[in-house]
Amino acid sequence: MEKIILASNNAHKIKEFKEIFNTYEVVPMKEIGFNEDIIEDGTTFEENSKIKTTAISNFLKSKNLNYMVMADDSGLCVEALNGEPGVYSARYGGNHNDQQNRDFLLKNLEGKINRNAKFVCVITLQKPNGETIVGKGEVNGTILTKEVGDTSFGYDCLFHSTELNKCFGLATAEEKNSVSHRGRAIKDLLNKLNMSK
Ligand code: IMP
Repeated sequence: MEKIILASNNAHKIKEFKEIFNTYEVVPMKEIGFNEDIIEDGTTFEENSKIKTTAISNFLKSKNLNYMVMADDSGLCVEALNGEPGVYSARYGGNHNDQQNRDFLLKNLEGKINRNAKFVCVITLQKPNGETIVGKGEVNGTILTKEVGDTSFGYDCLFHSTELNKCFGLATAEEKNSVSHRGRAIKDLLNKLNMSK
């Protein structure tokens, strides 16, 4: 199977990518010895995903390795907060702490009637020749007033998916993958990758 290096150390993301990108061998970046902190200082999801693929591609080049590299950037965009937390989703509450991020989100939404939101995911795949392919996906929902179900990943326990009519915190992995922003971005990317062959 052809290898793709994934620019993430997040166990949840690695699992989701492996499940959906199952015709490739998805290898997390730490398994190729990449342990640097990548500074994600882009202002869009696409910019941030490209910052990550570029850093790892440069590392691979320095080791004379020719693998494809894939990086996603994702986040929650809330209508009443003008698209926040957006690219700042992982550190919205000040630290990289999911509970603080969720508490801050609920506080900012106090008194707001419009609780519409969407998760957005952009994935860049960079080939060894430098060519890039970009996949995009979104999923719509609303922000609940209280946490529900599994609290172990980001804003899942506050996001009620319109299509599933269920909170992501209560959804199985299959249910979530079938509608999720990441699932959709991966499928978009796979289609574009297959068409580019
Ligand atoms: P990234 O690792 O820079 O893409 O950060 C994305 C942040 O957005 C994560 O730390 C989560 O807080 C949030 N996020 C993205 N996707 C999801 C999801 O599927 N469920 C819950 N939170 C998510």
